[in-house]
Amino acid sequence: MAERKPVIITAEQLAEQRRYIEEIRSLPQRPRSYFVVTYGCQMNAHDSETIAGMLQEMGMAEAPDREHADFVIFNTCCVRDNAERRALGNVTWLKEVRKQNPNLIIAVCGCMIQQPGMAEKILKQYKFIDLAFGTTNLYKLPELLCRKLNEDRAVVVVEDKDTIAENLPMKRLRKDFAYITIMYGCDNFCSYCIVPYVRGRERSREMDAILAEARQLKESGVKEIMLLGQNVNSYGKGLEGDVTFAGLLRKLEEIGIPRIRFMTSHPKDLSDELIEVMRTSKCILPQFHLPVQAGNDDILQQMNRHYSREKYLNRVRALREAVPGIGLTTDIIVGFPGETEEQFQDTMSLVKEVGYDSAFTFIYSPRTGTKAAAMLDQIPDDVATDRIQRLIALQDQCQKEAMSRFVGMEEEVLVEGLSRRSKTAVSGKGRHGVSITLPGSEKDIGEIVRVRVTEIKNNTLMAERIEERK
Ligand code: SAH
Ligand code: SF4
Ligand code: F3S
Repeated sequence: MAERKPVIITAEQLAEQRRYIEEIRSLPQRPRSYFVVTYGCQMNAHDSETIAGMLQEMGMAEAPDREHADFVIFNTCCVRDNAERRALGNVTWLKEVRKQNPNLIIAVCGCMIQQPGMAEKILKQYKFIDLAFGTTNLYKLPELLCRKLNEDRAVVVVEDKDTIAENLPMKRLRKDFAYITIMYGCDNFCSYCIVPYVRGRERSREMDAILAEARQLKESGVKEIMLLGQNVNSYGKGLEGDVTFAGLLRKLEEIGIPRIRFMTSHPKDLSDELIEVMRTSKCILPQFHLPVQAGNDDILQQMNRHYSREKYLNRVRALREAVPGIGLTTDIIVGFPGETEEQFQDTMSLVKEVGYDSAFTFIYSPRTGTKAAAMLDQIPDDVATDRIQRLIALQDQCQKEAMSRFVGMEEEVLVEGLSRRSKTAVSGKGRHGVSITLPGSEKDIGEIVRVRVTEIKNNTLMAERIEERK
């Protein structure tokens, strides 16, 4: 693969986009309200915060739902076929809403659009879409929308560049919690995965830009940050000097935000230096999302993951030794091409051996253009479905056992909202990444509360409050 350099969006280019924002504000035919529909991972959730930020600056207000908005934008995912189908189904359904509101503008962006051939497909097959753009030209939303409003014809633009744009407007979903992107794209090319094709080459943000953003968040009262990247462990590659993820964490810690977490980590790049930072840190939460994907060495090799089962287990042991009780979660794919029952059993035994707090399990979904999609021996749906069911059942059981370690333990919960089951209870995540329910009310939302876990009820940790020691 040819070396591609990131394209840093300059201040002038951003100023140009600001002028488009002003122009939209002055247009009589501009949409007055917006609604963002988000699919996929945290990257997309965070991009949607940027989209909302830009739309607000254009003078639009957030609508209560998609049926009552003048501008609806779908931020899509294509990591698996069902993610893509769901997005396209919902976009198509919106055509009906346009019958009530003829001025409705339908926009689609994100990973699905960035796939090769998608722009042509939209222009031919999805003529009702007004505006479509990929992941790398997100910062150009003002310009593209302006064009759409002035020219009154579909605007579909997908560029093949690896951009980094700093200082975009942003409307954060929460006041107490914030995402910070530390790197974009991915260079790993796991053989099943489309992300490197739709998010571009791996590129790290400058450390100073990340630290400045974190300081500003701290000042605005944010209590928890989540650092985002497809492979945060390789942060710093391509930057000048000896910049590592562990080094970035050390610097972030000095800023004093009480809770720091990150995702996603790739086992092959999980360094001893990082484990050491986790061991000594007070702010980095004792939790780790470490996708394993499979428990069999041959399958791991076919997946192009660059680690063996033993190496993975070794990292798990090192993490547990350094941070006793650490919360471990993972991603697993079943039914990868050629996976035999025996090889699947290796995944089962690994799940048992590790004892994850939770696992995201997926049936392998062939993605056009990836290496695995061309592999012979694709696994029939019924076999894959049977395997995932057995895996989920096993994980449920392991999860129960893993959860029991929390009973009697003191924890700190960042309260996210009222509990769904009771009006006098609230819930949020503990330091280990597990949801905890405790007595409380609306005024606790956004606060960190000290608790003691008392029992497990319906798979949820229940806790009592501990009075603050003065
Ligand atoms: N960068 C992260 C996550 C990427 S996508 C990582 O390396 O782990 C999130 C998860 O989706 C992956 O961990 C993988 O388990 C799953 N996934 C990716 N491509 C898939 C495919 N083609 N079929 C099924 N699951 C897939
Ligand atoms: Fe996909 Fe692998 Fe990159 Fe994760 S590390 S985004 S699974 S290619
Ligand atoms: Fe999906 Fe794109 Fe994330 S494909 S998982 S939204 S990076």
